[in-house]
Amino acid sequence: MAEARARQRGGNAEDVSAERLAEAGLRFEVDGEIATITLDRPEKRNAQTFATWSALARIGENLPGQVRVVVVKGEGPSFSAGIDLRMFTPEGVPGQGSFSSAATNGDTDIAQSVSKAQAGFLWLRRPEIVSIAAVQGHAIGAGFQLALSCDLRIVADDVKFCMKEPALGLVPDLTGTKPLVELVGLAKAIDICLTARTVYADEAMRIGLAEKVVAGSDLEQAVRDKIAELLSTNRDAAIATKRLLQGAHGRSLEEQCAAEGREQAARLKALFGG
Ligand code: ACO
Repeated sequence: MAEARARQRGGNAEDVSAERLAEAGLRFEVDGEIATITLDRPEKRNAQTFATWSALARIGENLPGQVRVVVVKGEGPSFSAGIDLRMFTPEGVPGQGSFSSAATNGDTDIAQSVSKAQAGFLWLRRPEIVSIAAVQGHAIGAGFQLALSCDLRIVADDVKFCMKEPALGLVPDLTGTKPLVELVGLAKAIDICLTARTVYADEAMRIGLAEKVVAGSDLEQAVRDKIAELLSTNRDAAIATKRLLQGAHGRSLEEQCAAEGREQAARLKALFGG
């Protein structure tokens, strides 16, 4: 069944076997309409590598069709300490190369690597699902961006968001800049990124980075509660509504009204026939 669904989506069930994912520092579980991705290298604070990003992309390609909610969480004290710093050394991560060797390749090669990495993050915005990041402790660099790639962030009161890339001479390139600006506004995004300062729970809640702040021991339950709320609405209406909300920013009021009319016509047909 899982294999058939994977084939339908152009993926391969073997690509998301527990063994292959464990090699990339991930766990992936599906329970009915809920999928959970766990960053599972707590001893390295869930640092991310090329393998993590391609495994995330494979999960997206093979996501079972019945899944409505995807939870992304991190094992241990931190959600993720960002990119594995070995990727900036000449030796790199064994079997995966390094950015310092990639830098000697052409711009096209680098752009292709970045785009491949981004594929691990982009699918979390699909209208067919709602993605929730459950974030405790540090969410640094790639960790912050992974949280930003989710639709919702529920955070523990010890959360520490930090966009560290500019401090390391880099730009955030794992799809995080757009949602950050959309969530907190341009001035605050400039402040957060160009100072590489830490955003703690109170501020995260105040500026719209987090939907909810809870004690660390309540994080799992808070996520479960949100999932129950999300699953209480009609699936097709939820997909159409997310599509509308996602498109709103790029449309004029008139265009958005027309889009609402089109989506509603499809809903009414589906509900009442015709
Ligand atoms: N890459 C590789 N290993 C890491 C990383 C990382 N990003 N972060 C932590 N680790 C490793 C440490 O080297 C250490 O390994 P060891 O036990 O073999 O020595 C282990 O994880 C635990 O780390 P500590 O620093 O001991 O844990 P602590 O909880 O005290 O601190 C913190 C956590 C603040 C996250 C710290 O580890 C840190 O600053 N890490 C680096 C963060 C960083 O600069 N990330 C890159 C951001 S830019 C980007 O993501 C593109």
